[in-house]
Amino acid sequence: MLALTRALALCALLCSVHAPCPPRCECSEAAQTVKCVSKELRAVPTGVPAYTRTLFITGNQIRHIGPESFRGLDQVTTLSLTNNRICEVKAHTFAGLARLRSLDLSNNQLSVVAPEAFTVLNQSLRELNLSRALYNHSSVTDLAISLHWSSLGNLRVLDLSDNSLVYLPPRVFSHLSGLRRLRLSNNSLVALQNSTFSGLEHLEELDLTLNALKVLPEEALRELDSLPRVALLLRGNPFTCTCGIESFAAWLNGSQERVRDAGSLLCAFPASLRNTSILSVGSRTLGCYQRDSRAELALQTSYVFLGTVLGFVGLIFLFVLYLNRRGIKKRVYDLRDACREVWDGYHYRFEADSDPRLSQVSTHVEL
Ligand SMILES: *[C@@H]1O[C@H](CO)[C@@H](O)[C@H](O)[C@H]1NC(C)=O
Ligand SMILES: *[C@@H]1O[C@H](CO)[C@@H](O)[C@H](O)[C@H]1NC(C)=O
Ligand SMILES: *[C@@H]1O[C@H](CO)[C@@H](O)[C@H](O)[C@H]1NC(C)=O
Ligand SMILES: *[C@@H]1O[C@H](CO)[C@@H](O)[C@H](O)[C@H]1NC(C)=O
Ligand SMILES: *[C@@H]1O[C@H](CO)[C@@H](O)[C@H](O)[C@H]1NC(C)=O
Ligand SMILES: *[C@@H]1O[C@H](CO)[C@@H](O)[C@H](O)[C@H]1NC(C)=O
Ligand SMILES: *[C@@H]1O[C@H](CO)[C@@H](O)[C@H](O)[C@H]1NC(C)=O
Repeated sequence: MLALTRALALCALLCSVHAPCPPRCECSEAAQTVKCVSKELRAVPTGVPAYTRTLFITGNQIRHIGPESFRGLDQVTTLSLTNNRICEVKAHTFAGLARLRSLDLSNNQLSVVAPEAFTVLNQSLRELNLSRALYNHSSVTDLAISLHWSSLGNLRVLDLSDNSLVYLPPRVFSHLSGLRRLRLSNNSLVALQNSTFSGLEHLEELDLTLNALKVLPEEALRELDSLPRVALLLRGNPFTCTCGIESFAAWLNGSQERVRDAGSLLCAFPASLRNTSILSVGSRTLGCYQRDSRAELALQTSYVFLGTVLGFVGLIFLFVLYLNRRGIKKRVYDLRDACREVWDGYHYRFEADSDPRLSQVSTHVEL
């Protein structure tokens, strides 16, 4: 009986030491690593050895994962589920992985993300890779709620690149106070708002390359300035170099230490300034003041033109008068004669009217 128990115990020990590897996976006990790569698996395999610290289940066709998928794997520190078809992350899916530091879900199709999807006991998660992981831009709302509720205070690195994100909900990262690196490259972000980055006081690197930012207005610049020690990357945005970008250009000139790729930021519009360095565009290149002075010049020109025309008309008038000087003279004489005749007639009548008797009569009447 004792022998049998011993034998069983020995077997259990041996069996656990030489734990079988799940079918279609490769297990290395020495490296504490299990790989199930591109094997058309439809679910997370059962029977992954308990010694596993690094687990790759990549390039398969897994759609669903949940808390039951990762039972008994409390030694795992690195889990990669990249290149699958995962569409939903349920609450507490990874909660049992008490030492999980790095979780890679890149290249999946997440459309439903539970509020506590990324909660890990012990808050041990340091890196979360969600590059090209969201099914579409609508999933960002779920993601924002999940980043809020998953207790990710110790997260250091978050990769959200290649996700077609058009906007970021306000305060989406406000519960990631330990974050050091944030990758948002190759999305379609058109604006940075007041509180987009609030709460990220320890951020050291912010990658916004290859987005759709055309201008960074004052509000966005203030938001970036609120990240005290961040190194910024902004290359590959379609910056529009028209009047109004001067404040951005001046900010850039003054922030060349923080904006690591400041020298390679180029205008995309208008066509005449394409590929011009933003650092080199000033109000003169943009033609903002030039346009004003040109308008002033046009106004002055029109005054000069009006004056010339009026002067010319006056000259013609005088010339016509000169040509007709004889006729005019004659008419003036005629007029003078006519006047004289009238005057003489009037004079005669006046003398006739001024008969003293008549004037006396009139005086009496007045009295
Ligand atoms: C919490 O994490 C630390 C290492 O980060 C580990 O040593 C410790 O065992 C963990 N606690 C539990 C309960 O798993
Ligand atoms: C996230 O995954 C993508 C693709 O799998 C990879 O290119 C990228 O380097 C990863 N991000 C980080 C921060 O490791
Ligand atoms: C995203 O996908 C869901 C279906 O999973 C759909 O209902 C929604 O309209 C899509 N959103 C966009 C912006 O395409
Ligand atoms: C940007 O992301 C899209 C998918 O959203 C991908 O097809 C494309 O290759 C990425 N571009 C770069 C330069 O990484
Ligand atoms: C931006 O946030 C500050 C407080 O942080 C607030 O006073 C200000 O009104 C906000 N501006 C806009 C445009 O929302
Ligand atoms: C850029 O900044 C320097 C000082 O750091 C200043 O001398 C220079 O005039 C600025 N250039 C422009 C175009 O604002
Ligand atoms: C701008 O640069 C891109 C890539 O360097 C090039 O393909 C394009 O022809 C350039 N456009 C102009 C107008 O110089």
